[in-house]
Amino acid sequence: MILALETSCDETAAAVLDGDDLRASVVASQAELHARYGGVVPEVASRRHLELVVPVAREALTRAGARLQDVERVAVTQGPGLIGALLVGLSAAKALAWARRRPLVPVDHLRGHVASLHLPPDPVWPPFLCLLATGGHTLLLEVREPASFSVLGTTLDDAAGEAFDKGARLLGLGYPGGAAIDGLAREGDAEAFAFPVARVGGLDFSFSGLKTALLYTVRDLGAEEAEARKADLAASYQRAIVRALVERARAAAERTGLERLAVVGGVAANSELRASLPDAAFAPLALCTDNAAMIASAARFTDPVPYPDYLSLDAYA
Ligand SMILES: Nc1ncnc2c1ncn2[C@@H]1O[C@H](COP(=O)(O)OP(=O)(O)OP(=O)(O)O)[C@@H](O)[C@H]1O
Ligand SMILES: [Mg+2]
Repeated sequence: MILALETSCDETAAAVLDGDDLRASVVASQAELHARYGGVVPEVASRRHLELVVPVAREALTRAGARLQDVERVAVTQGPGLIGALLVGLSAAKALAWARRRPLVPVDHLRGHVASLHLPPDPVWPPFLCLLATGGHTLLLEVREPASFSVLGTTLDDAAGEAFDKGARLLGLGYPGGAAIDGLAREGDAEAFAFPVARVGGLDFSFSGLKTALLYTVRDLGAEEAEARKADLAASYQRAIVRALVERARAAAERTGLERLAVVGGVAANSELRASLPDAAFAPLALCTDNAAMIASAARFTDPVPYPDYLSLDAYA
């Protein structure tokens, strides 16, 4: 039985995984706390994690019907993420593991996103090609072993989720904006504006030109017209992001010969992306944005550090 903690950004999360059985997954989002700043404020996130990490871990154990002494391993996100936020989770996990003399499993957050695919109801196992699209990363990965990968392509500037968030901000949709654009786009015409799809070399991505194109379009329309055409802008903007992701994923499939494509990360929740890749496997909706279930899942395939050697472990930003 694994108890996992995840505190890399603005979600305080804990999960209990028993073999294949996800007994509990609790996510306390701080999104509302950061919304008024238009993005995550690292120090505010750290302080909130500090308040939430114990109650969230306790809630996960309660929902799982388990006690701390039942936990065989404690897993935790070691990085990458906000360093102060990570340190809160890592310190809490060390304390929990140490108190019971259990091993600790430090997990890479991106491996965690990939491992969200290895959970019920429809677990996906390697080999497969993986599109990882989050607020911080856009990666095409070749996955040959569970929760591990080699990188085929990455973004040269903004991540896909970041492009959604910046676009949403320009359209006055608040933070985080991916889901808001997704919702508004359903009422708009995706062909109304021709936003560029960057075609950089290899299997890499670029979204900064698209963001600038939206900025100029909104400016040229003027405030009133931009407001009136907000749904069309959202739909056209989303179409350009989705097109870039789909094109590159198809090119990677061709290049690697990998027949199966799987999509993970917050942007995998996007309805147009899901519709555009009908043959792809998608992480369960609840496991797309940050959660601890995926960290527990990856921990099954990561070497544990024995008691008490992990006390000197550090997080990486
Ligand atoms: N329906 C949606 N459509 C598009 N984007 C979405 C949707 N839902 C969430 N997102 C985006 O997903 C991102 C958050 O995903 P996630 O939690 O995986 O990223 P992160 O943890 O911040 O980044 P990383 O994992 O790289 O550290 C945000 O940018 C958000 O706007
Ligand atoms: Mg993440």
